[in-house]
Amino acid sequence: MEDSSFKKAAFLDVLLASSDLSHDDKVTFVLDSLLAGYETTSVLLSMLVYFVGHSPKCLEQLKREHESIRSSKGTEEFLTAEDYKKMEYTQRVINETLRCGNVVKFVHRRALKDVRYKGYVIPAGWKLLPVLSSVHLDPALYPNPQELDPGRWEGLNQTAGKKFAPFGGGLRLFPGSELGKVEAAFFLHHLVHCYR
Ligand code: HEM
Repeated sequence: MEDSSFKKAAFLDVLLASSDLSHDDKVTFVLDSLLAGYETTSVLLSMLVYFVGHSPKCLEQLKREHESIRSSKGTEEFLTAEDYKKMEYTQRVINETLRCGNVVKFVHRRALKDVRYKGYVIPAGWKLLPVLSSVHLDPALYPNPQELDPGRWEGLNQTAGKKFAPFGGGLRLFPGSELGKVEAAFFLHHLVHCYR
């Protein structure tokens, strides 16, 4: 029997029917979901397929890691946070793909006061676009920067900082970076485990 107190509705219907949110809030919600949430993740997953597809060594190592995780679980059993912690090599592949692929090329900032930097003055009010890819592909920071080499992350702090900022930085650092990485890691798990 159908429960009349529980009506199924599409996400957009719920959003449009809300009287708590302003029109601008609703538009922001849709744009954030489509652009910030959907586009970024799908580009990251496409790049993972591209890079892993071009590196048989990397694919082999990924397979070993994920087969070892799967061997301790039932075929239909879901992955857990504990499994995620074991995906060390996968993390390196994701970081390296974020570095080489540069899903987000730059972030938006505005100078709140005059800023002096290396002899230049950035006047208050100017808009700044820090280009993340120029850091990620700088040969002084990453030898052979165009080469996908997950091994370069071995023993390194893999969290974001000034040299690695795929999720931006400062006060507006993207708060869902771990969600994006979990999605990518679980996608890789199913890809390398189930495909061929
Ligand atoms: C997985 C790949 C993703 C990457 C590389 C990425 C990257 C970024 C970057 C660079 C920013 C700007 C941070 C800054 O200005 O310093 C950002 C902001 C944001 N991202 Fe993500 N993101 C990803 C996934 C997602 C997902 C899955 C969602 C939603 C579910 C999302 C929602 C947002 C939102 C709402 C903001 C604006 C935050 C704010 O300015 O307060 N992103 N993201």
